Parts: sequence; C-alpha cells; structure tokens
Amino acid sequence: MRAAVPADGDAIAALLHEAFASYDGKLQPRPGALSETGPGIAAALVKGAGSVAEAGGLLVGSVLWHPEGEGFYLGRLAVRPGWRRRGIARALVGSVIAAAQGARVRQVTLNVRILLPDNIAFFESMGFAPIAARAHPGMDHPTYYVMIRSLD
Ligand SMILES: CC(C)(COP(=O)(O)OP(=O)(O)OC[C@H]1O[C@@H](n2cnc3c(N)ncnc32)[C@H](O)[C@@H]1OP(=O)(O)O)[C@@H](O)C(=O)NCCC(=O)NCCS
Repeated sequence: MRAAVPADGDAIAALLHEAFASYDGKLQPRPGALSETGPGIAAALVKGAGSVAEAGGLLVGSVLWHPEGEGFYLGRLAVRPGWRRRGIARALVGSVIAAAQGARVRQVTLNVRILLPDNIAFFESMGFAPIAARAHPGMDHPTYYVMIRSLD
C-alpha cells in the first residue's frame, strides 16, 4: 500500500468503474464513483489525499479523503472484484484513520448506502457508527447513512 498521487487518477477512476459496476442500475441515484474521471480524481488528490493498494503492478484498491468539518471525510473506497475478502479494504480504511490520528483531527466521516448492509457491517467492524439517515437530492426517502468514527 502507498500514498496515492495525482498521476494515479486514470488508474483509480478505472478501478472505481470496475468495483462499482455491479451497482449500476441497482442503486438510485447511480453511484457517483461510476462517473469519476482521471482528472477529477487527480484534482481530489491535490485538495485531499488517498491510499492505493498495488499487487504485481496492478492497482487493486483505493481510498480518498479530505478535511471536512472537525475531521476527515473518507470516500471512493474500492477493491477490485478478484481481490476482495483479503483485508485490503480494512488496510485502506486503516490508513485513513492513521492519517486522521496523525493530523490530530477528531473524527472520520463517511456516507454509506442503506441498501448495502454488508458495507455498513464492515464499517461498524472498523469502529464507525451511524449518526444520521439522509436522502440524496431528489429522493423522497433516506438512501444513505452518515457514519462516524470518533478518534477521541
Ligand atoms: C466494500 C469493499 C471495499 C470491501 O473490500 P474488501 O477488500 O473485500 O474488504 P476486506 O477484505 O478488508 O473485508 C474486511 C471485513 O469486512 C467484512 N466484509 C467485507 N466485504 C463483505 C461482504 N461482501 N460480505 C460480508 N462481509 C464483508 C468482513 O467481515 C471482512 O472480513 P473477513 O473477510 O475476514 O470476514 C469491496 O467489496 C468493494 O470494492 N465493493 C464495491 C465498492 C463499494 O461498495 N465501496 C464502498 C462504498 S461505501
């Protein structure tokens, strides 16, 4: 695992498209990760930071974060389908928590779809707890939880 750099933008965007492909047509609204572009990711890495997991020269995992409120916001967590259930996401999330602790911020926040209970359980196992259920713009019912891991 290493720090992501803006030059990783295209590879991270391709990884996100592959990792989120199974949600296309199933989640409303469509996940924003499916519309990410290399330049968009590169710009996010200039404003914030990220980690990538590599295996044999192939990018197999990614996560991005940026300062928000009293802490960091974690997003774009993805692991390539053939590389799942090996602890890569756990290590990537761990890198965000370590960066947040190093920066002495109070919390890490993320959004997770209510329709993805496995993801919710994964984040709970990493110390995150839901604090609110919210609706994406244009939706008439809650579609995601805001989850927070406090670092106090
Ligand atoms: C969610 C995702 C990032 C998990 O990546 P991963 O590398 O497979 O996760 P890990 O191997 O680190 O999993 C750690 C633990 O989380 C839990 N977990 C992860 N994925 C799970 C699943 N599909 N079902 C049940 N439990 C799961 C397990 O407890 C697992 O530990 P175990 O394998 O020892 O039982 C990956 O499935 C993915 O890229 N999904 C598509 C994109 C996505 O949903 N991103 C997150 C948006 S909020």
